[in-house]
Amino acid sequence: MAISRRDFVKWGGIGFATAGAGELLLPAYAAPTEASGTLGAYAAVVQQDPPPVAPPPAQPANWTATEPNILGPYHRPRAPYRAKITPPLAAGTVLLIKGRVWGLDTRRPLAGVVIDIWQADSRGRYDNDDPQRPPVADVFVNRARLITDENGLYEYETIHPGAYQIGANTWRPPHIHYLVRHTGYRELITQLYFRGDPHQRTDPWIRESLTIALREERAGQTPYKTGTFDIILAAAPRR
Ligand SMILES: [Fe+2]
Repeated sequence: MAISRRDFVKWGGIGFATAGAGELLLPAYAAPTEASGTLGAYAAVVQQDPPPVAPPPAQPANWTATEPNILGPYHRPRAPYRAKITPPLAAGTVLLIKGRVWGLDTRRPLAGVVIDIWQADSRGRYDNDDPQRPPVADVFVNRARLITDENGLYEYETIHPGAYQIGANTWRPPHIHYLVRHTGYRELITQLYFRGDPHQRTDPWIRESLTIALREERAGQTPYKTGTFDIILAAAPRR
């Protein structure tokens, strides 16, 4: 049956009117996104190439579950899914962090793992650390969720977080919070630290197993740093 634009608008209007609180609906004028063409000759060229053979992933040095760490007071649920944690042009040294999530039981990479990430900005501030100025409900600064790909890989761009003071002589060294969830595995709450920061001496929570070295890189004239943080999840107890 052909649907007239008038009917479409009418049905969209009804749907909109009956939607419950918080339910998302397309606007009445919505239409399928137009295609701009096909792969055509390009597809034929691509198909002539032999399928790429991925090298076997490097195994973790130690087969132990990644050490948990404190949640801290600044987590916010429901951060958006994206691979850039900070707003565009945020101040600070750009970091590119990647890693692979593994199952301790199978010793294989885990696909579809949800990684919730949050961190301070380069001055050591979270977007929700000032009770006088709480964040807008759907605005998330320096926060994101990621999903591992079919090879268990994740990667994101951010800036190097700053240290922040929590006591007269106590600082939290720069760190990035992780909350990792996957069906059949224990939930992991942990933190990623960076080797060599002077604030690490007064911090009671830092762990060597969670500390990575950063490598200096350059994109044209712009310096940035890279680091790798693999995660090993322990299987959840069977019920
Ligand atoms: Fe923190």
